[in-house]
Amino acid sequence: MNDGAGVTRGEAQGRRYGPLGRTLVIIPTYNEAENIKPIVSRVRAAVPEADVLVADDNSPDGTGKFADEVAAQDDQVHVLHRKGKEGLGAAYLAGFAWGIEHGYGVLVEMDADGSHQPEELPRLLTALKGADLVLGSRWVPGGRVVNWPKSREFLSRGGSTYSRLLLGVPIRDVTGGYRAFRAETLQGLGLTEVASQGYCFQVDLARRAVAAGYHVVEVPITFVEREVGDSKMSRDIVVEALWRVTAWGIGGRAKRLLGRKHS
Ligand code: GDD
Ligand code: MN
Repeated sequence: MNDGAGVTRGEAQGRRYGPLGRTLVIIPTYNEAENIKPIVSRVRAAVPEADVLVADDNSPDGTGKFADEVAAQDDQVHVLHRKGKEGLGAAYLAGFAWGIEHGYGVLVEMDADGSHQPEELPRLLTALKGADLVLGSRWVPGGRVVNWPKSREFLSRGGSTYSRLLLGVPIRDVTGGYRAFRAETLQGLGLTEVASQGYCFQVDLARRAVAAGYHVVEVPITFVEREVGDSKMSRDIVVEALWRVTAWGIGGRAKRLLGRKHS
């Protein structure tokens, strides 16, 4: 089986990993009324032992209500109702806290729109048996994107390359949002200090995982562009990502330079 490309730092080699524990798939939603029921049933069918948490930011289109309807029929589906749109990062942080509090050993990030295929989740979870963090990756051999306009592919590849080079993070798909974390990994990332709101949240967590010395593995995925609803990608999200990644890059370099001077 192809477990993907590994990013290993020092002590990760030869490490033994504990059992995975129960899995929680966290699905953040904002106006995903048409997508929410299909995605939850796909997750439940593909990985029946996993539970689902929908983290909805009070979507005006009633996504939260549809999620409640599913949860009423299925004990393994839960809904976190948040007061308003606060960005992907805040929704995931709330979802992680909920999951850790409820004793889950594995926390999965997945988009609601079908871009992250639940049928690929077993492969991510298998890879997590020997890793601290598994990233579903579009930009490793075997990974691909279906139905994305060239402009969006350019933005994503460019964003990933920029982040990789500036931050020195050896990950091909550093902005991707299909991931499986061990709970202990999340606990070691200093989540209380994470301020990223939009999609740069993903870059933030990846750079923290690498800096903490965690064993990060990229598993190839096929990312399928949504058929219904709209992407929440906006100019503000791109601008936030650009300034934060640049600031992290400059901050990291300055720290290394100062460290060198004093040693
Ligand atoms: N709760 C909540 N609050 N959910 C949100 C918010 C928010 O403010 N903004 C977006 N979401 C949810 C969407 O409803 C969807 O389930 C998921 O987050 C991803 O949003 P999309 O708008 O579909 O993202 P995309 O397809 O443009 O972006 C994809 O690529 C990015 C860059 O690679 C995603 O995979 C992102 O995770 C990824 O960072
Ligand atoms: Mn999407």
